[in-house]
Amino acid sequence: MSTNTIDNNRKVTTRRLVEMKHRGEKISMLTAYDYSSAKIIDEAGMDVILVGDSASNVMAGNTTTLPITLDQMIYHAKSVMKGVKRALVVVDLPFGTYQGNSKEALASAVRIMKESHAEAVKLEGGAEIKESVERILSAGIPVMGHLGLTPQSINKFGTYNVRAKEKEEADKLIADAKLLEEIGCFAIVLEKIPAKLAAKVAKELTIPIIGIGAGGGVDGQVLVMHDMLGINKGFSPRFLRRYADLAGIMTDAVQNYISDVKSGDFPNEQESY
Ligand code: KIV
Repeated sequence: MSTNTIDNNRKVTTRRLVEMKHRGEKISMLTAYDYSSAKIIDEAGMDVILVGDSASNVMAGNTTTLPITLDQMIYHAKSVMKGVKRALVVVDLPFGTYQGNSKEALASAVRIMKESHAEAVKLEGGAEIKESVERILSAGIPVMGHLGLTPQSINKFGTYNVRAKEKEEADKLIADAKLLEEIGCFAIVLEKIPAKLAAKVAKELTIPIIGIGAGGGVDGQVLVMHDMLGINKGFSPRFLRRYADLAGIMTDAVQNYISDVKSGDFPNEQESY
C-alpha cells in the first residue's frame, strides 16, 4: 500500500480537502451505506465517505435514486458514522427534500446533521437550487455540489448518457460551478462529463472538484462501492474500474456453505460445543 498520501490519524475536514487541492494531493472518495463497510473503508485510509442516494439502487434495488426517503438516508448515515473515525462523511439530500423550497432544504439538512452526526451534505444542481444551498450554508452546514449527470433528474434527461457535450450545457455547467464556489460550497462532484470540461472547471475553481466519469484532470475521484468491488455486476460503464469480483467470491463461498450443510460436513466436531 502506498502511504505517502495517507495520514491515518488526522481527521479529514472540509478545510483539509481544500488544502489537499492546493498541494496537488488527489482526494479519494467512495460511497458506503452501512457500519461494517464504512469501518473497512475508513480504516483503509479513504479521505471522504459519501452516504450516497445510490443506496436507493444498490441497497434497496430501485432503478433510480428517486424513491429513497430522508428517513432512509438518515438510517444509512447513522450506521456509517458509527464505523468512521477519520474520513469526512458527506450525506446526499434525497430527491424532493430540497428543490424549490429553501426552508424545507434547511430542515432536511438539519435533520441529517442532528440525527446522524455526519459532517456535510451534498445537493444536485446549480442556479436552480441556489437559495436552498445558501440557506443550508447560513446554518453552518458544509455543502458539496453535484453537477453534470445528476441522477435525481433522470426523468428530465431521459438517459444516463454523458452530459455537457454541447457548448450551451457546458457553459451552464461552468457558470453553475462558479456560482456554487462563490456562495460557499466546499467541493463539487462532476459526474459523467467530458474530461476536458471537467479539467477546465478544476483549473478555474479554487475548491476541490471530485469526478466520476469526468477524467483524470480533476482533484479527486469518487465511485460507488458496490460497482468498484464488483458486487453490482450488471453495471459496467466505461468510467468504472473494478478492483474486485466480490460477487464471484460471495457466490463461491455461499455455494461451498450450501454444499457443506447438505453433505453434513458443517459443522464438524471443532465447530460444535
Ligand atoms: O449517490 C451517489 O453515489 C453519488 C455518486 C455517484 C457521486 O452521488
